[in-house]
Amino acid sequence: MVDMMNMTSLLMILVVAVITVPAQLAHATVTLAVNASDPGRQMPSTLFGLFFEEINHAGSGGLWAELVQNRGFEAGGQNTPSIFEPWYKVGDQLQVSIGTELSSPFQRNPVALKIEVLCDSGDNSCPSGGVGAANPGFWGMSIVAGSTYKVELWVRSKTSFSLSVAFTSSDGTTVLAQSHLSVEASEEWSKRSVVVAATSTDHNARLALTSATRGVFWVDQVSALPTDTYKGHGFRKELATMIADLKPGFLRFPGGCYVEGQRMANAFRWRDSVGPYEERPGHYGDVWNYWTDDGFGYFEGLQLAEDLGTAPIWVFNNAHSRFAGVSHEQSVATELIGPFVQNVLDGIEFARGPVDSTWGAVRAEMGHPEPFQLQHVAVGNEDCNKPYYTSNYMEFYNAIKLKYPDIQIISNCDASIAPLDHPADLYDYHIYTNAKNLFAMRHQFDHSSRSGPKAFVSEYAVTGTDSGTGSLYAALAEAAFLIGIELNSDLVQMASYAPLFVNANDRRWNPDAIVFNSNQQYGTPSYWMQHFFKSSNGAHLIPSTVQADSSTSLASIITSAVRFHNASSGMEYLIVKAVNFGNTSLNVNLAVTGISASNIIPGESNIMVMTSSGVMDENSFTNPVKVAPQVSKATNAAPNMELVLPANSIVALELGLAPALSSRSESLTKFVDTFISTS
Ligand code: AHR
Repeated sequence: MVDMMNMTSLLMILVVAVITVPAQLAHATVTLAVNASDPGRQMPSTLFGLFFEEINHAGSGGLWAELVQNRGFEAGGQNTPSIFEPWYKVGDQLQVSIGTELSSPFQRNPVALKIEVLCDSGDNSCPSGGVGAANPGFWGMSIVAGSTYKVELWVRSKTSFSLSVAFTSSDGTTVLAQSHLSVEASEEWSKRSVVVAATSTDHNARLALTSATRGVFWVDQVSALPTDTYKGHGFRKELATMIADLKPGFLRFPGGCYVEGQRMANAFRWRDSVGPYEERPGHYGDVWNYWTDDGFGYFEGLQLAEDLGTAPIWVFNNAHSRFAGVSHEQSVATELIGPFVQNVLDGIEFARGPVDSTWGAVRAEMGHPEPFQLQHVAVGNEDCNKPYYTSNYMEFYNAIKLKYPDIQIISNCDASIAPLDHPADLYDYHIYTNAKNLFAMRHQFDHSSRSGPKAFVSEYAVTGTDSGTGSLYAALAEAAFLIGIELNSDLVQMASYAPLFVNANDRRWNPDAIVFNSNQQYGTPSYWMQHFFKSSNGAHLIPSTVQADSSTSLASIITSAVRFHNASSGMEYLIVKAVNFGNTSLNVNLAVTGISASNIIPGESNIMVMTSSGVMDENSFTNPVKVAPQVSKATNAAPNMELVLPANSIVALELGLAPALSSRSESLTKFVDTFISTS
């Protein structure tokens, strides 16, 4: 099993006997009939994906591997002297003085740091490591022995001197990696770049810029990145790998409320987040209340989607902010919307325009001449009830469809309640609720209208006490909700959990799928739950029915069956999934018709189970896979077999089908395709 077995290095292999426990231990028996001779219905290739929002330091201090926080000294505002935290002085007040000035070479980032060295090694008044300024990154930098880091900075000095660029322990006593730059006296700024190799490890390190030569110098736009990032594009490797492992069908970004801003002035602006990092002004995200240097900007969102091999979904600000005070919602009236519409058209041109277009040229200049595959945009986030939403939406809709008729447009208005009064390809649906409600919502789309736009469940999660900081209980309800989405995937085209990331040092929203600090990360049960669905994108939903005798309730179970073709191995799999939301185990008599025992390859058949002794159990840095899928070989795999669904569990049985059957179905598919195209 292909995807499931990728996890075997991480997860414990169980013997199948654990799964097929004696019948007397099970509390009830149900029958699950799967009709594998029915070709079923193909589910969208985009069905399960990711929602990335700059929240909880998901990007800044997270997935974006930049180690320096406030690299341009702009976070304190552009009035000087301004607060330059988290930078701080290295040395005492008799040895060094530091402060901000409006002397930067960058027009849009006018603040620079002035460092006045008051001591000198010549008269022994300076400490041996020199004095200057240090940056602790985002709650400490993780510097690892054997790894290399690229440090870039802009510097100007009236006198020539040697600048030490060093990663050190937080108290400066241990030097982990160091280089000395010779800075010549000049009135001009110069960019300096150095790669340093670490000889020791410290996960709470800092970057220190120091000198032991009396004089004055200025620094600006100080950046430090590990040289080893995901696909070389600046994404923190372990975090990017965790999301790549989910095989996402799309990437919605960059928000969320982050896109809107609490006040319009603080909304995310795509134009300010592209081009050289030195020219990006950064901004204070006033919904989640932290400054970002916008290293992870619009370009990086598109690049990440490409690197994950998935479809980007750009959520743009549609001229609405959240709230600026109780009664002062900021919404732009439709007669004034023109520049906002042009701004969005420019953003699409940035993503897709040819290199000789205005914005395509900016993208090419950034090293990406090929267009990004942007096929979906969302007009705002949770803005349906804002003043002018529909009339403004129509301005965006008409302008985009005129220039880019192939782009799918997502409305913020919920068409599952009532038909929309405006055209849309998809409507956005968000749900945060308790576990019982979400479990009940496995039927949410069963009776929704099929005649309007398709549904995009772009944010779902169990929240509140049921979730803790990421519980099995929450994950069970979410898995049931997703099985409901599989069953309704003729209507629901896409779904993503929210939020994706949290830096444990600054939790702004709880719960989240992936928790990290400077050097560690783990998935919550809600992250691992998504592994049960990573073969669903583009797979065929096969008819299945679950039945029980009159003494057994089906109220706590939901199941689905899909047929998945692995394009790289050519293998085909039948995957039966079930969630047991109850606190007693269930025996399932599985009866698959349409395949015989000889069609099944036991060695290619697996069972994946996620459960735990306590339904509120969580993972942690010290026990990162306490609640995670456990994979075992299904040595007894057969069309008719008994499965046990432990209390509070998600179970997937994956039956590897013999090549004869796989190739027969492939040639059958080809025959049908040929028949359709020639008739
Ligand atoms: O996912 C967290 C927030 O929840 C999103 O920013 C917003 O869209 C929703 O309210």
